[in-house]
Amino acid sequence: MKTLVTLALLTLICYLRHSSGTAAVDAVTKDGCCPGVLQRKIPKGFVKDIVNIPNNCHPKAMVFTTVCDEKYCIDADWTWAQIRQEEFNTSKSDFNIHKCAKKGQNV
Ligand SMILES: *[C@@H]1O[C@H](CO)[C@@H](O)[C@H](O)[C@H]1NC(C)=O
Repeated sequence: MKTLVTLALLTLICYLRHSSGTAAVDAVTKDGCCPGVLQRKIPKGFVKDIVNIPNNCHPKAMVFTTVCDEKYCIDADWTWAQIRQEEFNTSKSDFNIHKCAKKGQNV
């Protein structure tokens, strides 16, 4: 019975965490993979870093780190993301030019 209550509580906590405002941030899991991917156009000036996750991960993703140190798992098959990564690789000049205004800002 106690186990059941604990389980119910854990489920509730998980549910609450996922439905909160941070749901858009798909944090990278322990093995460096992404639990899910987004197609979100983060303006270059807010992007500090773009890295690929390991090849064995599913779904395929790139992790975009914003100037606020938020990590977004972006769909690696998405052309927009591929173009951004190519630009990032060749010239970082338009990237990372903004300051983080506040933690958790939506970019
Ligand atoms: C960008 O550089 C990373 C790291 O070297 C590499 O894995 C990736 O394939 C490159 N992407 C593009 C589109 O050039």
